Amino acid sequence: MSTNERTFIAIKPDGVQRGLVGNIIARFETRGFKLVALKLVSPGQKHLEEHYADLSSKPFFKDLVEYMNSGPIVAMVWEGLDAVKTGRAMLGATNPLASAPGTIRGDLCLQMARNVCHGSDSVESANKEIDLWFKKDDLNTWESAQKTWIY
Ligand code: TYD
Repeated sequence: MSTNERTFIAIKPDGVQRGLVGNIIARFETRGFKLVALKLVSPGQKHLEEHYADLSSKPFFKDLVEYMNSGPIVAMVWEGLDAVKTGRAMLGATNPLASAPGTIRGDLCLQMARNVCHGSDSVESANKEIDLWFKKDDLNTWESAQKTWIY
């Protein structure tokens, strides 16, 4: 049982602008995940193009980068049991209309191109994204009570 899997979760500019930051963070905290890193950033076009490099040939790429560059983003690393897969389940489907109620997208948004949050889709991409968004020193080591009460 790996309780120290890490995932990269971001609250996109629409999530910040709509005042959904506390709501989204609360879901990860209360689920039992441990916050390892958090910052509010406007990383710029080049960084966002790199973050979405796998999608660079898609027709929606330009709009996606423009949207991501339209305001600050909350970048986070959350740690815990199956954090990548569970993080994706908590986000819901890419298209909010297909997201189940109870998920972040299923509860908080309607449009694919304004879907309030990002979450790594594999452990490999989580490691890549954490490296892209954070310096090693930004990743905090601390003891969470979750370890005693949940695991
Ligand atoms: P993707 O990585 O496929 O989805 P996810 O965010 O669920 O991992 O796509 C990245 C973002 O691009 C997605 O969150 C919303 C946007 N997007 C569009 O605007 N149009 C589309 O047709 C798709 C597939 C994604």
